[in-house]
Amino acid sequence: MSGKLRHNSVRIVLALSMACAARVGAQTDPGPRGGAAGAGGYYPSLNSTEQFAFGSARTVFQEIDSVSGTMPGEAGKGLGPSFNGNSCAQCHAQPAVGGSSPGLTSKQNPVPNPQVALATLHNAQNSVPSFITANGPVREARFVNLPGGGADGGVHGLYTIQGRRDANGCQMDQPDFATAISNHNVIFRIPTPTFGLGLVENTADSTLQANLVANQQTKNAMGISGRLNTSGNDGSVTRFGWKAQNKSLLIFAGEAYNVEQGVSSEVFPNERSAVPGCVFNSTPEDFTSLAAGGGSGDVTSFAIFMRLLAPPTPTTASNSERNGQSVFATVGCALCHTSSLTTAASPYTGMGKQEYHPYSDFALHSMGAGLADGISQGGAGPSEFRTAPLWGLGQRLFFLHDGRTSDLMQAIQAHSGCGRPDATATPTTSSACASEASAVIRQFNNLPNSQQQDILNFLRSL
Ligand code: HEC
Ligand code: HEC
Repeated sequence: MSGKLRHNSVRIVLALSMACAARVGAQTDPGPRGGAAGAGGYYPSLNSTEQFAFGSARTVFQEIDSVSGTMPGEAGKGLGPSFNGNSCAQCHAQPAVGGSSPGLTSKQNPVPNPQVALATLHNAQNSVPSFITANGPVREARFVNLPGGGADGGVHGLYTIQGRRDANGCQMDQPDFATAISNHNVIFRIPTPTFGLGLVENTADSTLQANLVANQQTKNAMGISGRLNTSGNDGSVTRFGWKAQNKSLLIFAGEAYNVEQGVSSEVFPNERSAVPGCVFNSTPEDFTSLAAGGGSGDVTSFAIFMRLLAPPTPTTASNSERNGQSVFATVGCALCHTSSLTTAASPYTGMGKQEYHPYSDFALHSMGAGLADGISQGGAGPSEFRTAPLWGLGQRLFFLHDGRTSDLMQAIQAHSGCGRPDATATPTTSSACASEASAVIRQFNNLPNSQQQDILNFLRSL
């Protein structure tokens, strides 16, 4: 009797493991979470004065720019000559103002990629590049090399104001994206969400340094190193953007206003791509008004809005999600995606000495040939990226720096190095294939299916 049982159970184990082998990949991303946007409000402990400032700044973040502020409903001034968007909130939208790329699969606000309609708004003459689609993510494009050779790396505006009713006489062609694509010379970036970034901005360099060297032995054993990107000017830690290339929210706001919308400001005072005949305003276009009742410019408001934004609220509750949370740590994801950091003292009510949960070390890691984009920014090399913060992931529609996937499982597998080289990646040697995350991803792939599913469920609860 007992012998027979043993025999049966061996057969069951065998059958189960064969079923497992056949069902690799059966774990599924539950998809973007529905329900209320768990983000978009002010940090909850702020006092009423600070709450009011947040509300006013949010309105400015949503302001739409036209060339000289004269188009109805588009009172912001300074759009173009080249641009990717006409409002911060156009790209930072999901699941609420301040977030990441909007899209049709949103449960909160399903909309097509706004960059499609933007191409011809007010009679503009732009054609929509092949990588901008109605159901794809908002994107900006960088060229790896200059057309004549030599490193480029800069953002090339998708559109120009040529033909717009508010840009009389401007003649300026769009960059030749079709040729750049056929030459594998263009890479993409999607918007990162700005929720909770005041906490990140106010985290001491020493906190990030200590976190990076914590668990050193485990990191060494798993092949994880990482380093912080730093400012070439003062040597302090930079932490914003896909390559942690930017120092502060004010600097990022100034740069975004200039690069994404073509609006010059006190932070970036000179007009980009200032083709004669296409410059319509005095510079900077956004500035501190010295008139009675005037005030600081838009860039200051953008930074205030983002600095006071609360982090996304997780909904982690089910047994599976809670189990996923602990397996996420034990399998090694948290060696880069740090679950807790603490802010320094803060001038804003209740934001000082606070523990928060970004799931990032804000450090750069070498991610291998499959993710490498060939672009250097500050100290970040061609295959290095900032550990993407995972807070708010549950309501995100597109993943990885170029938005190549909407599937969490694919985003995880892309960490492994040479898996699927990016079509646009420059040719690399096999040693450059290696990703610091390879060993962790191997461990993840060795987990039973149910535990992989728990991790996916946990991630969609963030
Ligand atoms: C056309 C779309 C678009 C518009 C418009 C836009 N952004 Fe962004 N934003 C992006 C992209 C793409 C990135 C990622 C850039 C990178 O790191 O290479 C980004 C990143 C950021 C970040 C970094 C967040 C982080 O996680 O470190 C901040 C801050 C930011 N944007 C602020 C703004 C502000 C303020 C405005 C309005 C002036 C704005 N953005 C307008 C697309 C846009
Ligand atoms: C060596 C450090 C490292 C490890 C280990 C690591 N990651 Fe990442 N992760 C990154 C970096 C860097 C990125 C950004 C890559 C890019 O966009 O090119 C990222 C991006 C992601 C994204 C996409 C986020 C977004 O904003 O698009 C997800 C999801 C993710 N990681 C989950 C995981 C999970 C789950 C594990 C464990 C199985 C893990 N990661 C292990 C460094 C790491």
